[in-house]
Amino acid sequence: MKQYPTEQAGFPAQRPRRLRRDAATRRLVRESAISVDDLIQPVFVIDGEDRSEAVPSMPGVERLTIDRLQHEAAHLAELGVPAMAIFPVTPAEAKSDDAAEAWNPQGLAQRAVRAIKASTPDIAVITDVALDPFTRHGQDGLLDESGYVANDITLEALVRQARSHAEAGADIVAPSDMMDGRVGAIRAALEADSHPETRILAYAAKYASAFYGPFRDAVGSAGNLGSGDKRTYQMDPGNSAEALREVAMDLAEGADMVMIKPGMPYLDIIRRVRDAFEVPTFAYQVSGEYAMLNAAFDNGWLDRRACVMEALLGFKRAGADAILTYFAREVAGWLAET
Ligand code: PBG
Repeated sequence: MKQYPTEQAGFPAQRPRRLRRDAATRRLVRESAISVDDLIQPVFVIDGEDRSEAVPSMPGVERLTIDRLQHEAAHLAELGVPAMAIFPVTPAEAKSDDAAEAWNPQGLAQRAVRAIKASTPDIAVITDVALDPFTRHGQDGLLDESGYVANDITLEALVRQARSHAEAGADIVAPSDMMDGRVGAIRAALEADSHPETRILAYAAKYASAFYGPFRDAVGSAGNLGSGDKRTYQMDPGNSAEALREVAMDLAEGADMVMIKPGMPYLDIIRRVRDAFEVPTFAYQVSGEYAMLNAAFDNGWLDRRACVMEALLGFKRAGADAILTYFAREVAGWLAET
């Protein structure tokens, strides 16, 4: 790094505070900022009509029926939010060992995609490709006789699921399952199905994190998973170089964008991936991060707006191009005010 003289004739040659002394100068030299273009709103969808349900561990987040989701999509588009990510809450009776509901053309996710694309075509719709909302055991894949999540039979199911999402009109499919080879299998199927333009956002470096707890409550998979965990396929939180290998594989298999998840505890991974590959790199501020911040806000311990903006700025500074965050709608509203 270049060295600057720090002292001359009794005064400091460099006074970094000169650039901090007023708002105008601070704005001129600021390196990173949050724009509405960076935001993706995750949403939970339930069956029924004109109904919503609170998610207790995620204050302010509601599961919505498709008609209400259409209003939400219109509202987000009006605020300028470019994309939303859809997560269906599957009724217990639709869950099975083979996860067949995942590729039902009349499934909740597929119907939600069609409804949103019909009413608000300009908002990009991202779908989650993974089997956990549809399996009785709550794992992201199918089990073999020994109870192990079996990679290659799961790939066939994921391909069927991704094809049904593309067929329904999803702009972006996002495999979040962490099976080996799933991006390549999905890419090949989309090309064969004449969906060459469907984008793949690969959850390339997804860690076996304890911060997903509230999400599993929200989609109702926590009870199914029980004391099980996802450590045989999601990444070990101690690893960093392995994330680069995962990203390299997903890109080689045809991913257009990659994601790091969770967010705040993995800012170093975002930076490493962004520097190493120079491809669109997204961060997911997950449910547990949202819950943690809200707990502090609700106790009056932290300032909501300032802390949310600072946390999101951290993702941008680390190199994220876009951020999935449950705060997206609220942040878009704040940005519209200023
Ligand atoms: C499903 C999936 C999960 C999340 C997104 N997709 C949960 C999991 O892997 O157990 C978590 C998102 C969040 O915590 O906000 N594969």
